[in-house]
Parts: sequence; structure tokens; C-alpha cells
Amino acid sequence: MQIEAREYEYANDYKVLIESYSGKPEHLLAIMQDVQKHYNYLPRLAISMISQHVGIPVSRVYAMASFYKAFSLVPKGKFIFRVCDGTACHIKNSATLLDQLQEHLGIEVDETTADGLFSIETVNCLGACALAPVMVVNGKVYGKVSPGDVERIINEYGGQSYASQHKC
Ligand code: FES
Repeated sequence: MQIEAREYEYANDYKVLIESYSGKPEHLLAIMQDVQKHYNYLPRLAISMISQHVGIPVSRVYAMASFYKAFSLVPKGKFIFRVCDGTACHIKNSATLLDQLQEHLGIEVDETTADGLFSIETVNCLGACALAPVMVVNGKVYGKVSPGDVERIINEYGGQSYASQHKC
């Protein structure tokens, strides 16, 4: 896989983060999780650097990154809107919340806005069914979300301009 030119701008940051761990192979997962947490995905350059640091072939690091849903190989937005589509949330109309998010942000599920600010994902039960329908933005949980709340939540993350651009 090809490393994108802009990734080299962050090479030193990746290095500092990766080298904060010893180069033991058993630290592979922890390093990957840390990089994912910082950048919301695993940049290809970082994967290559991780591979060298722990002495594990790049192909194995990619295999792990592809296997675990917690990792992403594509850049995600700074703010990730995760809408629960488990049974309880589905019954409480989570699909409408999802439609509204897509409409306001002008992207589909699993897409990211062109400026890299927002992504939308669906998840299965978040374990907070009593609060259905539930939405999580970068770890902050919003419960009993009504369609009228969606725009306000987007605005909390600076999405006002999106709401005005894509509102129907
Ligand atoms: S189904 Fe959404 S939190 Fe359980």
C-alpha cells in the first residue's frame, strides 16, 4: 500500500508515539491502539514504522489492523458520530437520526467530510438501551435523542455551516 505524501509531515509525531513503547513484539497491539486513538486511523507510514520498531512484518500488522474492527486503515473525521442501530435503538427510530445526520453533513455512513471534520458510523448495541435511541460522539454519550436534537448536537462540534449547506 502506498504511503501518502502528507503522512510524512507527521513522521516525527508517529516516531515519538511509537518509541514511547519498547520494541518488544508483545507491545504491537498497544502501539496500534495508541496510534489509532491519536489519529482516528492507522496511517500507512505509522504502520511501517510500527513494524520496524517491533520487528514484525508489515503484512502481519496490516492483517491485525484489518481483523479488528477497532482499527481503521482509512482516515476518519476529527469527530465521529456513532449511531446505535441495535434492536432497542432501532425500535426507537435510530434510522431517522441517521438520516438526519447524513442529510446535515452531506455524507453517508462510513464516509468522512472533505475537510476531515466529521464521520458517521453505525454500531450495534452500546449497552445503554434504557437511553435508546443512543448516539455517541467521540466518547460522549447522547441518550433519548430526538430528531430535533440532531442539529444541536452537530452544532456542538462546529457543524453549523454543514447544517445550513445540506439542510433540506
Ligand atoms: S440497542 Fe442501542 S444501546 Fe442497546
